[in-house]
Amino acid sequence: MTHLTVVDHPLVQHKLTLMRRKDTSTASFRQLLREISLLLAYEVTRDLPVTASRIETPLCEMDAPVIEGKKLVLVSILRAGNGLLDGILELIPAARVGFVGLYRDEETLEPVQYYFKVPKQLSDRTVIAVDPMLATGNSSVAAVDLLKQAGATDLRFLCLLASPEGIARMQEAHPDVPIITASVDSHLNEKGYIVPGLGDAGDRMFGTK
Ligand code: URA
Repeated sequence: MTHLTVVDHPLVQHKLTLMRRKDTSTASFRQLLREISLLLAYEVTRDLPVTASRIETPLCEMDAPVIEGKKLVLVSILRAGNGLLDGILELIPAARVGFVGLYRDEETLEPVQYYFKVPKQLSDRTVIAVDPMLATGNSSVAAVDLLKQAGATDLRFLCLLASPEGIARMQEAHPDVPIITASVDSHLNEKGYIVPGLGDAGDRMFGTK
């Protein structure tokens, strides 16, 4: 998998435009996020290895492809990651799921872990970390640090929007982790928001603003 994949499929781009609009309602935002996550999940799993399995169709036996290896792991970076998670789980219902919770220490501005729960045997599985916004990259990099400490070696990072700053930060800290996104936006503003972006993804999906 290449290090940065921008999913430029027209359906993804159209849905993303609707999500960016400031007058899109919470209900529509959620529905669009669900739809777009299915399409992104399709792309992030494109290169999963398959193996032949002997099956019987109503007509004959055949060797048919099935995904190889242990069930993959989706890791939601709380809280906005949960919005992407729901849609992906519709497409990959057998996936194992983990959660990473981080908050920003007001004094040091460093991410601090408050929750970490992931499936066992991470080292034998493909792990997809999901967070809609790769902004400064601080929490995303910290989440990937924690996943590697827990044993993950085959990791990829899925987001809806990325900033050039966030991509640079992630690629510097974790050059082995491919990033899959629907768009690389222009820049971060002084408050760490992606511009033009879509605002606060968590607030928009949960209606907390
Ligand atoms: N998190 C968000 O929800 N939005 C941004 O623009 C940046 C980080």
